[in-house]
Amino acid sequence: MRLDIARLREAREGHRIGIPLVYRETTGSTNDDAMELGRQGAEEGTTVIAEEQTRGRGRLGRQWVSPPEKNVYLSVILRPPIPARLAPQLGIVAGVGLVEAIRNWVPEAALKWPNDVLIAGRKVAGILVEMVAKGDDVDFAVVGIGVNGNMRIEEFPPELRDTAGSLAIALGRDVDRTELALAVLQHLEAEYETYLQHGFAPVRIRWLDRAAIVGKEIAVRHGNDEVRGVALGISDDGTLELRRADGQLVEILSGDVFLDERGGARN
Ligand code: BTN
Repeated sequence: MRLDIARLREAREGHRIGIPLVYRETTGSTNDDAMELGRQGAEEGTTVIAEEQTRGRGRLGRQWVSPPEKNVYLSVILRPPIPARLAPQLGIVAGVGLVEAIRNWVPEAALKWPNDVLIAGRKVAGILVEMVAKGDDVDFAVVGIGVNGNMRIEEFPPELRDTAGSLAIALGRDVDRTELALAVLQHLEAEYETYLQHGFAPVRIRWLDRAAIVGKEIAVRHGNDEVRGVALGISDDGTLELRRADGQLVEILSGDVFLDERGGARN
């Protein structure tokens, strides 16, 4: 079933995020569309949502599987008055909003740094933040969110079948994608409002509370590099803080987190 765009627009009327809502039946990537709109001066909150992406992009140059009418693919333009170096905070803000939205369906959903949402160790949602700076400050950022709503395991490429999941897989029934998109926009707005009014500190506390990795033995891989240690938390810059076995504290800028086998998760 298609998204109910009239319902989405009506529900977001008067809000900061989700309106204007640009609807595409099919597009390359909603992030690319939103970046283009941002460059043209689109107002904060402008959102692009699509039924399908033909070149959906994930973090670290990966592909994001985006078949038609299965999942939620949306990108939101934000114009926060913050220095460009703090832009990674936006991914953390969005991650908290996203996990809150998904918890309406699956209460045990948790975050994995930087902002993946896991259910039973399987990744069901991810966020790709892209930013354009003006001088030292953020001009605008695009927060791209993908949530696997109604994907079945066999619909993922074979290499993802051990690690990817969806709400439908977790629940054993389909979810209403319009409701899911609405929940994502509502919770994203709530977290973003908190961030604008009270700064990063309360968002960080909420992130830590919902993170599957804090206090656990993890490995972070980026290309051929691997760092192991205990995840301590996140810094003001959104970096991951880790204590290695030799006691040294390290800050990780980007990479993939793997929980130790004893953590019971596969990715
Ligand atoms: C990740 O690798 O975890 C991030 C995935 C982000 C996917 C979303 S889907 C909507 C938006 N458009 C894209 O091309 N990517 C993001």
